[in-house]
Amino acid sequence: MSQNKFQLKNLASGKTTEYAIHQGSVGPEVVDISTLYRDHGMFTFDPGFMATASCESRVTYIDGDAGVLLYRGYPIEQLAEKSNHLEVAYLLLNGELPSEDEFSQFKHSIHRHTMLNESLRKMYDGFHHDAHPMAMVAAIVASMAAFYHDTTDIYNARHREIFAHRIIAKIPTIAAAAYKHALGQPFIYPRNDLDYTANMLHMFFAVPCEPYRVDPLHAKALDLLFILHADHEQNASTSTVRLAGSTGCNPYAAISAGVSALWGPAHGGANEAVLDMLEEIGSADKVPQFLARVKDKQDSVRLMGFGHRVYKNFDPRARIIREMCHRVLAQLGDTNNPMFELALRLEEIALKDDYFIARKLYPNVDFYSGIIYSALGIPRSMFTVMFALARTAGWVAHWLEMIADPAMKISRPRQLYRGPAQRDYVAIEGR
Ligand code: CMC
Repeated sequence: MSQNKFQLKNLASGKTTEYAIHQGSVGPEVVDISTLYRDHGMFTFDPGFMATASCESRVTYIDGDAGVLLYRGYPIEQLAEKSNHLEVAYLLLNGELPSEDEFSQFKHSIHRHTMLNESLRKMYDGFHHDAHPMAMVAAIVASMAAFYHDTTDIYNARHREIFAHRIIAKIPTIAAAAYKHALGQPFIYPRNDLDYTANMLHMFFAVPCEPYRVDPLHAKALDLLFILHADHEQNASTSTVRLAGSTGCNPYAAISAGVSALWGPAHGGANEAVLDMLEEIGSADKVPQFLARVKDKQDSVRLMGFGHRVYKNFDPRARIIREMCHRVLAQLGDTNNPMFELALRLEEIALKDDYFIARKLYPNVDFYSGIIYSALGIPRSMFTVMFALARTAGWVAHWLEMIADPAMKISRPRQLYRGPAQRDYVAIEGR
């Protein structure tokens, strides 16, 4: 902790107070104003958390100006090149990369927790065939609280570990069951001899009437996408998991809250919205016309997959995914993919446009991811589910970090109240 102080003076009352400045291991210093109300009888006002650190964390670091993303200190580029999703999940949960023994035990535990309780699986029958898969996933994850009672003591480290492994293991099964329900196809049971993403593809695309062989290229591409989506510090869904979890609620309920928060188009839902947008634009010659609408403040259209609260530079994940699009599409023999061509052209034009330059708007993780999901045969309505599946590792890592902290407090923001002051009730005939 730094000895630096931040001095604050209320010009109306003349009262001056000093606040401690905390120094993170990297990144900007943070002023600790937790006693501000006691000292001055005032709250701070920061809608959208533009300048507020909501917690202390050791999981993920982003330098938005430099376009840097580190999981537990490791650059995303190195993890994307050398690691795999389950190893990254272990890293996020435990803080260090595993030894061979640790990793094989972890994988064994994940592979043994893939099945869903049959009653939970039958719950899908209650959903309408055209229910959005995110609605089903959020509901099923929340319902896990009603099934797995050996993980309800959040103050028991072993319970927390079982919960962590169970949700990471079952989330592909939950996602696949939502997909199969929408298709009207029979549910496919997990295969524990397959790797994490290969098993997911098997549950998505196998049918009982013929053999299905997972394409290793597809499994590898998906694994890379999962690494890139695994965590992103205090984003809206992770903050939702923390806020819900801070009440001491069942951990599955907290993760379900995160799934729901991720669904919005400003967050994880953007990957689905990007392909809708590309389809709407249709061809490269329509890009200028579309961008004119994006820049028109009277029009609510946004360039989906562009812009970020933290990155004021290229999102490093978008760069990796763009390269991956080239590679995966070439390997699939789809070198002239029209959606990819259009996205590249859109990016090129937007990055030269003063509107985007002035506001530092760059492609984010969602701009290109849907193109790969589509190439792998994953339908658009499942894109945000893919994001949720990968982000589960991050949500759980943050929940574990928060619950294990003896200083954990319920998150309870304050407000700037602008409603009516106290007034007297008037009987209906007198109004
Ligand atoms: N298209 C057009 N204008 C934009 C865009 C965009 N995609 N993003 C930001 N702006 C403009 C915005 O209109 C504002 O302009 P002005 O200063 O003239 O009012 C300025 O840039 C600042 O934008 P903001 O909305 O105040 O920024 P924010 O930090 O609150 O929002 C964002 C961040 C990601 C919600 C926003 O950039 C956006 O809506 N992007 C499109 C949706 C998207 O791709 N979301 C995925 C985010 S990355 C993955 C994830 O987090 O899940």
